[in-house]
Amino acid sequence: MEGVADELMRQMLTSINRYDLCITEFVRIVDSLLPERVFYKNSPELLNGGYTKSKTPIRVQLLGQEPNWMAENANRAIELGSHGVDLNFGCPAKTVNKNRGGAVLLKSPEDIYKIVSKVREALPEYSILSAKIRLGFDDSSLFEEIVSAVSSAKADQLTIHARTKLDGYKPPAYWHHIGRIRDKTNIELIANGEIWSFGDATQCIKEAQTNNLMLGRGALALPNLADVIKFGHQPMPWSTVCNLLREYAELELIGDKSYYFSSRLKQWLRYLKIQYPQAELLFSQIKLLKNKNEILSIVNLLTDK
Ligand SMILES: Cc1cc2nc3c(=O)[nH]c(=O)nc-3n(C[C@H](O)[C@H](O)[C@H](O)COP(=O)(O)O)c2cc1C
Repeated sequence: MEGVADELMRQMLTSINRYDLCITEFVRIVDSLLPERVFYKNSPELLNGGYTKSKTPIRVQLLGQEPNWMAENANRAIELGSHGVDLNFGCPAKTVNKNRGGAVLLKSPEDIYKIVSKVREALPEYSILSAKIRLGFDDSSLFEEIVSAVSSAKADQLTIHARTKLDGYKPPAYWHHIGRIRDKTNIELIANGEIWSFGDATQCIKEAQTNNLMLGRGALALPNLADVIKFGHQPMPWSTVCNLLREYAELELIGDKSYYFSSRLKQWLRYLKIQYPQAELLFSQIKLLKNKNEILSIVNLLTDK
């Protein structure tokens, strides 16, 4: 998740859950082969064999519209150690869509086909190629065509965020649309959207008819959500979240984005508030603060209670 699930967040969440895979924030591809340093900046895990510190594989996500440049950059990601490549056809951001990247491509399954097949041709056979889509742009009328474009272009996996671009992030997610195409395609399907709890995951698996799930915001709101779903663990108590918050704060401060420390922490608290009322209190205490030490002392004070 762009601007949210960066290396530090990935490191933390994969250290407390047994995720099968982590997708990076997207790398924007326009009209060039990006230098290696761009990939390393986006995914420092590439310097660690493509794994987070707790050995969860990561996969680089690319967002762009020009098939040849997408293919060249996909190849580079693989050469640098990414565990496969993921192509983003779901991003609703205006700037991205204006340049014909992300969700706007859902209006044109043939363009999706061209991109996916070019990337497939360029990659070694063993590399997993996945794509991420929504149900459509304004509505789901092209959904089957989009799925068929991705699968006939020989991608291996398809993640479906079960909403249209127009739906944005508004609940509900329409998981049954995934179930409805289940028998019409051979591609491995992964369901995504509005999974916040064990109950949501169970219902999603039933409606989407796949056991493969991708977590989004829910993974930030309940830090051990993956293990709650996968292994029936109890949701993490607030006291454990507090320890994580402190750990995260320290990681942020030593990381190369420490300048953004206060906004990063506030951002995570906005998600935590969804599951923990205590996060609301903490948020209100630090919301006007920018100084790192002041923030850290309040985090320590409140989380000690
Ligand atoms: C702040 C934010 C950033 C996101 N960035 C990406 C991204 O870079 N790539 C991507 O495929 N999806 C991205 N998404 C979409 C999520 O991966 C996910 O598909 C969506 O939030 C639906 O799942 P959820 O309801 O569980 O959050 C982003 C979502 C949010 C809220």
